[in-house]
Amino acid sequence: RDPESQSILDAHEWLSKLYHHLLRNSKEGQEAYQYLLERGFTEETIIRHRLGYSPSSNDFVVTFLEKKGFHPQTMVKAGLLNTNEQGEYFDRFRGRIMFPLRNHLGKTVAFAGRATGSFEPKYLNSPETDLFHKGRLLYNFDLARASIRKQNTIILFEGYADVISADQAGIPNGIGTMGTSVSDIQAQLIKRYADKVIICYDGDNAGIEAAVKAAKLLKKTGCQTNVARLPNGMDPDDFIKEYGGERFKREVLDASDPYTSFIIRYLRRGFNLQLEGDRITYIENVLQEVAQLDRAIEREHYLNELAEEFQMSIVTLKEEVEQHRYRKT
Ligand code: CTP
Ligand code: MN
Ligand code: MN
Ligand code: MN
Ligand code: MN
Repeated sequence: RDPESQSILDAHEWLSKLYHHLLRNSKEGQEAYQYLLERGFTEETIIRHRLGYSPSSNDFVVTFLEKKGFHPQTMVKAGLLNTNEQGEYFDRFRGRIMFPLRNHLGKTVAFAGRATGSFEPKYLNSPETDLFHKGRLLYNFDLARASIRKQNTIILFEGYADVISADQAGIPNGIGTMGTSVSDIQAQLIKRYADKVIICYDGDNAGIEAAVKAAKLLKKTGCQTNVARLPNGMDPDDFIKEYGGERFKREVLDASDPYTSFIIRYLRRGFNLQLEGDRITYIENVLQEVAQLDRAIEREHYLNELAEEFQMSIVTLKEEVEQHRYRKT
């Protein structure tokens, strides 16, 4: 490893420990610590994920890193410091709850800092470096790896808090993509480590739209893909804190929809099925989805549902689907 990358790794290691210490032991970190406890994160969880607090000073990290002998210019590259027009250095993360972002080896390569109040942005992330590419990192993968392997399943969350909350509730195979879009590389990593994935995004419009995109990509990548549904306006962390981990497993994860069911339900939203034109377009769209299924019994399953709901003959529907399949190849 080149010296600059090593130095960036070392700085992250030192700082993650310092931020963690400040959260738990400093006067300044008290409010943030209380906030986390009130949100239901236990001390054990805070330690396990090494959550921290960055003081609201301009030069706390500057001074600390300087004392440790790090080059400030490298630290700017690392995203730990910023610099202004006068060439002065100052702390990038100020007054935020710190989430260390670890790579698959468990090394902290970046941070996400959450505002304690309603400051914008809610989350401030490190910039991309040679060691940190947002689109290649799976948040919490290092801790989740063993249970992912054992269960052959990955649960995909939107947010850090969701991953951590699930972990605390006895669902250790969760990872996060740091926001709502999944990259091709992340999809391939997911496929490499597990055959099955359950997408568990927030129960809001952004979450649903993102789940559609993620589901399509993961399905295309070859994952057996399910999508979980959350009550309107709730995210997985909210649900777990409100109803507990057992209900989350039963009512959210176990009740998640297989890819095709999810897509069909999603397609419905845009149509008024009382109208004949809408009905026909909707049926057409469903048939296109069904045509993409490899297994005949799966196709039959959805066609039966469709035939029953719209009182159509299964023979006609099958013919349509076969035509689509024929055209596809
Ligand atoms: N995110 C981000 N930058 C933002 C907002 C969100 O990077 N300005 C990413 C973060 O990884 C965040 C995820 O998107 O965890 C989901 O965002 P959101 O649902 O708004 O936040 P929560 O994870 O629910 O955070 P909290 O519960 O602390 O409000
Ligand atoms: Mn969200
Ligand atoms: Mn959320
Ligand atoms: Mn949340
Ligand atoms: Mn057709």
